[in-house]
Amino acid sequence: MNSRHSEGFLDRKAETLPNVQAVILAGGKGTRLRPVTVDLPKPLVPIANRPLVVHQLAHLAASGIRDVTLALGYNAERFGGVKEEASRLDLNLHLITEPAPLGTGGALRWCADAGAFDDRPLLWLNGDVVATPSVRGLLDVHSNRDALVTFWLTSVRDVTQFGVLELDQDGQVERFLEKPAPEETDSHLINAGILMLDPSVLHRIPPDTFFSFEQQLLPAMVRERDRLYGVLDGGYWLDTGRPRHYLGANRHVLEGRVDWWPYGQHTEDGLWEGEAVKRDGVIVINPAALGDRVHLEPGAKLFGRTVLGNDVIVRAGAALETCVIFDDVEIGRDAQIVNSIVCAGARVGNGAILRDSIVGARSVVGDRNELLRARLWNDVTLPTDVLKIDL
Ligand code: GTP
Repeated sequence: MNSRHSEGFLDRKAETLPNVQAVILAGGKGTRLRPVTVDLPKPLVPIANRPLVVHQLAHLAASGIRDVTLALGYNAERFGGVKEEASRLDLNLHLITEPAPLGTGGALRWCADAGAFDDRPLLWLNGDVVATPSVRGLLDVHSNRDALVTFWLTSVRDVTQFGVLELDQDGQVERFLEKPAPEETDSHLINAGILMLDPSVLHRIPPDTFFSFEQQLLPAMVRERDRLYGVLDGGYWLDTGRPRHYLGANRHVLEGRVDWWPYGQHTEDGLWEGEAVKRDGVIVINPAALGDRVHLEPGAKLFGRTVLGNDVIVRAGAALETCVIFDDVEIGRDAQIVNSIVCAGARVGNGAILRDSIVGARSVVGDRNELLRARLWNDVTLPTDVLKIDL
């Protein structure tokens, strides 16, 4: 895990909010992002060379929160390194692992029963959202309305894949629809996976049981006219559940559209650069992030919006644009990679082409193969000259 911090990452403690505690749900399987998430849980996927959850922790720390719980399940043992990052950010981090997946509500209840929470308002973040909500703003509404749940909302054109809320004039939730058909609602307000809860709500969840907060508890609370409110402040939001959104999140962080800090030092030519990078004679179009010990051979071409992890080698003539390359990857001579993800330890052969594709961890794309909208699983070797596409 990268630990070298660019200026600003650790120094953004403008606020103090000791009266709020937080929980990040980080135990899901991340199936839509496979094979990236086969051995890496989604909250640990790198965004501009830092684990997603570390960016979230930095935002919580900058918002003045001190006490954070990570609710873990799938691949929980991979989260050890996050503790170190949290202590650098001056956070008290509590890792709690469920024995089996309990769903969003079940996970919150499990943490409550493990003694993770007291009676302060509880900020719940899903571990796959890229956003920098104003925690102070959310808390103000939550407290002023004496709410049980306050949603930090976002607005999307196509609501059919989301939990949609309809609010009355006062901001109170009067209807909740899970993945509605377009004709079912005029609302574009969705549950963004960022909520402030009164912890007493967690007693309404049965213990030790798989339970979806959104599907099983929320509809009942709305029907009973419980004090549920929503806030829309227009802030940036993206969930990284799908590959194109994951690539979009990396791009937006590099472009500075969201206040998250890429790993490395910001160079005069507009890159984020780790230690011991070799790039003599290579023009790298910014924005881009290069991890520690990246080696770009003379003649390599980086056309912007690209993230290279630690120990990546890009051979002469290879061309990369809008892609995320994880640690320990080798990109062969004259390869072309566009809009794609290459996972840790993989190798892309000479003259290979990847477009809108994912190469799984430790896989090998043999020379001159051409992949279009393909997902190559982990530990797969594609011999040379097997696949051709008509570009
Ligand atoms: P998909 O399988 O691609 O839908 O991804 P996911 O497993 O992450 O599910 P989803 O996006 O619906 O989950 C939203 C958030 O809740 C994510 O941050 C998950 O890590 C988390 N989550 C989902 N299910 C569980 C669970 O059973 N336990 C815990 N602790 N977290 C969960």
